[in-house]
Amino acid sequence: MVVDKQEALDRVAQMVADCQRCFLYKTAKRSVSGQGNPDAKVFFIGEAPGFNEDQQGVPFCGRAGKLLEKFLELASLTREEVFIANMLRHRPPSNRDPSEAEIAACRPFLDRQIEVIEPKVIVTLGRFSMEKFLPGSLISRVHGQPRFVNFSGKEYIVFPMYHPAASLRNGKIKALEEKDFVKLGQFLAKLNQVQEKTGQNLSKHLSSQDKSEKQMKLI
Ligand code: URA
Repeated sequence: MVVDKQEALDRVAQMVADCQRCFLYKTAKRSVSGQGNPDAKVFFIGEAPGFNEDQQGVPFCGRAGKLLEKFLELASLTREEVFIANMLRHRPPSNRDPSEAEIAACRPFLDRQIEVIEPKVIVTLGRFSMEKFLPGSLISRVHGQPRFVNFSGKEYIVFPMYHPAASLRNGKIKALEEKDFVKLGQFLAKLNQVQEKTGQNLSKHLSSQDKSEKQMKLI
């Protein structure tokens, strides 16, 4: 059966709107399921809705979101062609860090969206989404370095980035993040080239080489 991706994503959004799996729904104004293209090649994952997202029900629509849109331009991407979601779908009070229990409660929504969209590249924004795919990593060491990651029985490329809110607070991080987004754009162009030349995705193309070499070849 061919699954209509938009329909499947709408179903996730309805489940998110009805969700009482943790207590955040009690203090949040709106749920924020995610937004973007069901056929997105790139899937961005932030942390949790903030004040503006909670008011509007849209991810990354406040100051961090405006900066994210500028960063997207550096990678020759638009908001319309990617998909953007968060680890949590309801705002934590006072924008506190997500708890492990909240992340676990919200996990099925994100996992289902990834399964439906099947992006080529997953970009993690900040440490909470990075931890999902690259547990134990330090963002200061791995940002801007794409990796192959097995997730839910499939191989994905994960591209860890700093969170745009960190760039709003710190000019040095902003300069690093700008570089990483330029690099993301170059990397996506390379993925397209490989696909066009060989008809294979990068993972298959490199499969004869050992894993560590494979990681190196990504950059
Ligand atoms: N920060 C996030 O992590 N997500 C949003 O949607 C907005 C700000």
